[in-house]
Amino acid sequence: MKRPSQEQVALSRRELLRRSAAAGVGLGVGVLGGPLLGSVAASPRKRLELRETDPWHSASLEFTLSPDSEQVLAGPPTTVWRYGVTVRQGPAEMVSPVGSWLGPIVRAKRGQTIRIRTVNNLAEPTITHYHGLDVPDTVDGHPRFAFGPGQSQDVVFSVLNRAGTYWYHPHPDMRTGAQVNMGLAGLFIVEDDEEQVLALPRGERDIPLVIQDRRFDPDNQFLYTADMVNGFWGTNVFVNGVQNMVRQVGTRVHRLRILNGSASRIYKLQFTGGSSPVPMVVIGNDGGLLAEPRTYPYVMLAPGERVELWADLRNQTVGSSVTLRSTTFSGAGSGQGSANINLVRFDVTRQEPESLTLPSTLSRIDPYRLADAVNQSNPRTYPISFMAGMGYHLNNAMFEMEATAANEVVPAGALEVVDLVNPALPVPRSTAHPMHWHGRQFQILSRTMNGTGAYLTNYNTVKDGLVDAGWKDTFLIMPGETVRFLMKWTDYKGLFVYHCHNLPHEDMGMMRNYRTV
Ligand code: C2O
Ligand code: CU
Ligand code: CU
Repeated sequence: MKRPSQEQVALSRRELLRRSAAAGVGLGVGVLGGPLLGSVAASPRKRLELRETDPWHSASLEFTLSPDSEQVLAGPPTTVWRYGVTVRQGPAEMVSPVGSWLGPIVRAKRGQTIRIRTVNNLAEPTITHYHGLDVPDTVDGHPRFAFGPGQSQDVVFSVLNRAGTYWYHPHPDMRTGAQVNMGLAGLFIVEDDEEQVLALPRGERDIPLVIQDRRFDPDNQFLYTADMVNGFWGTNVFVNGVQNMVRQVGTRVHRLRILNGSASRIYKLQFTGGSSPVPMVVIGNDGGLLAEPRTYPYVMLAPGERVELWADLRNQTVGSSVTLRSTTFSGAGSGQGSANINLVRFDVTRQEPESLTLPSTLSRIDPYRLADAVNQSNPRTYPISFMAGMGYHLNNAMFEMEATAANEVVPAGALEVVDLVNPALPVPRSTAHPMHWHGRQFQILSRTMNGTGAYLTNYNTVKDGLVDAGWKDTFLIMPGETVRFLMKWTDYKGLFVYHCHNLPHEDMGMMRNYRTV
């Protein structure tokens, strides 16, 4: 796992380039600690309501971001920045700690109204984004609302999303990667009635796994250095903050909810070992359960993406071990997929009866149709490009705090077709990008591979593991590919971002606004 090293740049380069443009940063509504209220009631979207008598009807949480320390490696402890989350009002089960540097898992219910006060105890501005949630632009963590040390921000929103594995992390301009690398990230799991009636593994067999890589200085402190092309490259891979995680399990079915919380590293997930092969049965992804389970030879998981697996260990003999690992692939960027990495080893230590069987139907998903898109014959088209000395650009431009181009003004609530185009750039600039839209979950319609030769050979090492079914908010696009998706833009009017979730790419400007009107 050696770190690639072309076009090393300091992350401050872009800061210098845009210093003047950024002068207004942080003067947003949240900076004085006054309430920054998402206008839930004013939303044109029909609100989902939990009954007033339901203990989950509404809740109030406090998120604090503070420096702390954590024993990560043997030897000196590592300084981390940590999300603390407390329930000020509402069910105590909403928050459960993970251990390590990760923020606790927050559990919410669809239809719930949640107030969150975020307190910044760091020495720099921050803002929290709820990745995958459909919330007003004032709640969404747009970098223009970053607020300074000692200040707080209040938001309120209604949970409109279906059951699924979402997550939260900071989103300040140019500092997202650095803050996430210090430890700031956590899962935000939504539950709903549709999912609740399904016979899925629960309790200790519903296992959240957050994969992240890190590098260290000689004193065991997190190092964050990034490369304009390849991003951040860790030397150690952690799952829930643990290297070489081992879990003792019975001969039962487990639901693995996996988040790639890494800055840049892409994983190609497969099970290995065991007394009989364990298939990669996918039951969910970014926006919750698929319509029906699907089996893949392996699953690609790019930064920001989630996947949920039905890990069936019923046929394993006691004493065997099954390992979830990342295997090799090529063409996604230098260093990507160059080694096998063991992530979690499941040691089967006991025979247990299992009554669960894989449901043939998981959830209701009405497929969007191209014919229903208001721009069906004229897709919105956003190219990825590389500007020498500046990095990757989106829609032929670099991030500007408030600006949108003409093709970035979209009709709120309308169904549209969007093409994202990743050209087959010459090596070494040719790289895959995990592309993410804030706002609504969308559906991937098609992928077109225009690359030939080595681009195509490389593509064949990843293509069968791209999980495009169901609802997505982030997808991997390989060099030479065009990904076409159908998006019903959020009903909330305002300014949202879309960006590459390779965090150094995002921080160096591979991010743009879109405005719903
Ligand atoms: Cu998880 Cu805008 O990001
Ligand atoms: Cu997001
Ligand atoms: Cu990128």
